[in-house]
Amino acid sequence: MNFYTRKWVKPEDLNPNGSLFGGTLLRWIDEEAVIYAIVQLGNPHVVTKYISEINFVSSAQQGDIIELGIEATHFGTTSLTMRCEVRNKITRKTILSIDKLVFVNLDKDGNPTPHLKKEITYAYMGIDNTRLD
Ligand SMILES: CC(C)(COP(=O)(O)OP(=O)(O)OC[C@H]1O[C@@H](n2cnc3c(N)ncnc32)[C@H](O)[C@@H]1OP(=O)(O)O)[C@@H](O)C(=O)NCCC(=O)NCCS
Repeated sequence: MNFYTRKWVKPEDLNPNGSLFGGTLLRWIDEEAVIYAIVQLGNPHVVTKYISEINFVSSAQQGDIIELGIEATHFGTTSLTMRCEVRNKITRKTILSIDKLVFVNLDKDGNPTPHLKKEITYAYMGIDNTRLD
């Protein structure tokens, strides 16, 4: 699993108990996953269909640096299933895990359409080998 995005937990991200608000974390994950799906499926018209049980394993505190990991686990006909893990960047302690996030590939009319992808695409660019996946 690749951890693409890092977040610095700030005061506006906290719940009244002073730890990272779950809704904020889910918004970050949804955006991370849709970007992953858009890149993998090569289509900007992708929507969240299903998210399985969410396990908030441990809390994050103000000032923590966390990282979001997404990995494709199944390429369906119109769907892409991914799993997600969020962890503390420094301690590597798991903060959250989600087994299944299902996104659906849509056509211009908003209907599911086959994406024809079968496996993870690893794209490289330029001379510095920056990964695009
Ligand atoms: C996404 C949407 C167009 C799919 O419509 P649909 O009638 O369910 O489409 P289908 O039944 O053809 O299913 C499409 C794919 O989703 C999968 N799917 C449907 N329901 C599922 C579920 N509950 N869990 C997992 N996968 C599911 C199907 O297996 C299919 O995948 P496949 O083609 O790879 O086999 C429709 O449900 C929708 O518009 N939902 C709202 C999306 C949205 O607004 N998301 C943002 C949430 S705030």
